[in-house]
Amino acid sequence: MAKIGIFDSGSGGLSVLRELQKTLPLESYFYFSDNAHCPYGEKSPEYIQDRARFITDWALDKGADVIVVACNTATAAAIATLRAEYPQIPFVGMEPAVKPAALGTKSGVIGVLATAGTLKGSKYLNTRGLYEDDVKIVEHVGKGFVELVENGILDGPEAETTVKASLQPLLDEGADTIVLGCTHYPFLQTVIERLAGPGVRVIDPAPAVAKQTKRVLEDAGATIGEGPAQLSVTASGPIDPLLRTLKLITDITPAIL
Ligand code: DGL
Repeated sequence: MAKIGIFDSGSGGLSVLRELQKTLPLESYFYFSDNAHCPYGEKSPEYIQDRARFITDWALDKGADVIVVACNTATAAAIATLRAEYPQIPFVGMEPAVKPAALGTKSGVIGVLATAGTLKGSKYLNTRGLYEDDVKIVEHVGKGFVELVENGILDGPEAETTVKASLQPLLDEGADTIVLGCTHYPFLQTVIERLAGPGVRVIDPAPAVAKQTKRVLEDAGATIGEGPAQLSVTASGPIDPLLRTLKLITDITPAIL
């Protein structure tokens, strides 16, 4: 049984845990919600790097074989630092799904929803640079999306108004494909898809990240697929928001650390 550490600024990384549990159902997961420091989106890279080091030490202490940075903002700000400072453990980060969006768009316009930190980061800008000659790429910060998810507001009038304010500018530009560039946003996917309409494809990169995690564990020679499935969770702030969202993605009763 492999031990997989996974973290995010809050409950968003559960959209990645959900896919990890489909791809690697029999492993032991340790989830850290850094909700006392949420949102990461407007924080400095140095601040996020400090948090990422703290959480990495926690995951190493739990015996993790791999750490999944289930947060686009933390991936942008900290994964290079983590890889340099902790060569003893592999890290898997989030990749904005610009490539599948660019390959699949019919209108030639793709929209990216992400935090300010992700959109400013060199990782995103490099990816964007690879495709912007072929397709038009338009971006918007999902303003207030993280707060909706942390408060358990995943549908209804408030969610619709908030989502529409950031989504509509992308639709107005002609985007027929929307990339979810923040791990909180898949929890609003029902609202996003309803507002965008049937002609618009919404892409969550989490399944690709789960597959990559499996490859990394295999390359590291970790024992996988033997069980038992386990889940332990902790939060730097109140645990209730995490447990509420967790119920939406798994039946496993977590150990609370
Ligand atoms: N879920 C995060 C991401 O993927 C962080 C959102 C935030 O804390 O601002 O970017």
